[in-house]
Amino acid sequence: MYVIYGLKSIGNRKALAFLHLFYYDLLFIRLNFPENYRTMNILIYPDPALRKKAKPLTSIDKEVHEKVEEMMELMRQANGIGLAATQVGWNVRLFIIDADNNKHHDKVFINPKIIEESGETNKEEGCLSFPGVMSKIIRAHRIKAHAYNLDGQKIEIEAEGLVARAWQHEMDHLDGCLFIDKMSPANRLSVTQQLKEFERTYSKDTGVSV
Ligand code: NI
Repeated sequence: MYVIYGLKSIGNRKALAFLHLFYYDLLFIRLNFPENYRTMNILIYPDPALRKKAKPLTSIDKEVHEKVEEMMELMRQANGIGLAATQVGWNVRLFIIDADNNKHHDKVFINPKIIEESGETNKEEGCLSFPGVMSKIIRAHRIKAHAYNLDGQKIEIEAEGLVARAWQHEMDHLDGCLFIDKMSPANRLSVTQQLKEFERTYSKDTGVSV
């Protein structure tokens, strides 16, 4: 009704402009709708919540399922392969990993624990809480671990390479440890400017000086 009325009452050229505006309005609403209704965002360094030690999850209810869904969505949108609950301000021991060579059916790991580490590898690593920052980090090549899945079943994990790296990275997040803490002094120096930029942005957005 609104559009038809617009077309009748104004000339053709004006109507076209009107429709364009209307279209962009719709596009704008469409693009922003999930943002407005989203309850979580990926926290960016130096958000202090990233330094919190997460608590064990004691029950897996509907809310947990919904939050995990939201985390999955955020991780995929950011093209990540792992995301810890602490990175979205949810202070529980839970993370998700979805890597290409993930042989495991499970992508959600609750109250995870690494029980064995072996080998050593030094490869590039990134983190969704530090967009654009990459650095080599020494990690164990292989891990054995256990966790609970979303159905509450205990699962055993054996992983190597990328998945093992992701596991160690996400485990660190649950203890408030960030990959910058594990960089060699030289690598840490090389990302100083990027970290300062994040700190400036955080101070500007929150009014809190870092
Ligand atoms: Ni990370």
